[in-house]
Amino acid sequence: MDDIKKIEGYVFDAQTHDALFKLSNSSIIDSIDSPISSGKEAVTFLGHLGTVPLVAKIYKKETSKFKNMEKYIKGDFRFKKLGKDKRDIVLAWASKEYKNLTLALNNGVCCPVPLAREKNILIMSFIGRDSKSFPMLKDAEFDFEVVYPQLVENYAKLLYGAKLVHADFSQYNILIDPQTQKINVIDFGQAVLHNHPKAKDFLKRDILNITRFLKSRFPERKLTPSLFLEDIKSKKEEIYGRDN
Ligand SMILES: Nc1ncnc2c1ncn2[C@@H]1O[C@H](COP(=O)(O)OP(=O)(O)OP(=O)(O)O)[C@@H](O)[C@H]1O
Ligand SMILES: [Mg+2]
Repeated sequence: MDDIKKIEGYVFDAQTHDALFKLSNSSIIDSIDSPISSGKEAVTFLGHLGTVPLVAKIYKKETSKFKNMEKYIKGDFRFKKLGKDKRDIVLAWASKEYKNLTLALNNGVCCPVPLAREKNILIMSFIGRDSKSFPMLKDAEFDFEVVYPQLVENYAKLLYGAKLVHADFSQYNILIDPQTQKINVIDFGQAVLHNHPKAKDFLKRDILNITRFLKSRFPERKLTPSLFLEDIKSKKEEIYGRDN
């Protein structure tokens, strides 16, 4: 895994380095090639296993956002034993994103395939082409008729199949293939189970954010948050039946 050392500008601490070494020994990823994005919580890299492109999302141990993270972890029974230590919260966050992605994928949501989680590192499938991630919805041109039904169906599967609220569902966390206009939802760290004390507020905010964006692009459509929610519920009945 010498390639790790080649990445200029990124110094991994000993634990992150060990985790990468372990992932490499387990033949999950064998190179970390170039940074795709650097956010407040994580740095995302393009890597490879042989010729297969993969993504490594490496959470920063010293993130300034960990206070904010607490809000989305407290109240989640999967992490009820978690203490107050900053580093433990970051590790739990990585584990939460892995678990949420697994739930979403198992329920038919279009999202990256989670492949492994080791300490603060999440390995997942790459959503892009020719080593370039697909653009975010906010930077893409698309047809309402093609994308709107996908947004509704993905949210219905997430909410009623996986029983998750994304909690950051927006034009920033949806990637779109410009050729086919197929969407993929990403960034599941903050997603909460539907029985989380704040799940309803997060759901409201998700729906408000995505409809606000769609309205700005397609003002003639007269879309409202309640229409979007109704469409999600109709889709739920279509997929899971009336009694669910
Ligand atoms: N599986 C993936 N395939 C391709 N690109 C990805 C993938 N996951 C993340 N990315 C790229 O990395 C960017 C950041 O990913 P993500 O939103 O998960 O991280 P983040 O830490 O929340 O970053 P930010 O704070 O910028 O939102 C995405 O906009 C996308 O360009
Ligand atoms: Mg994001």
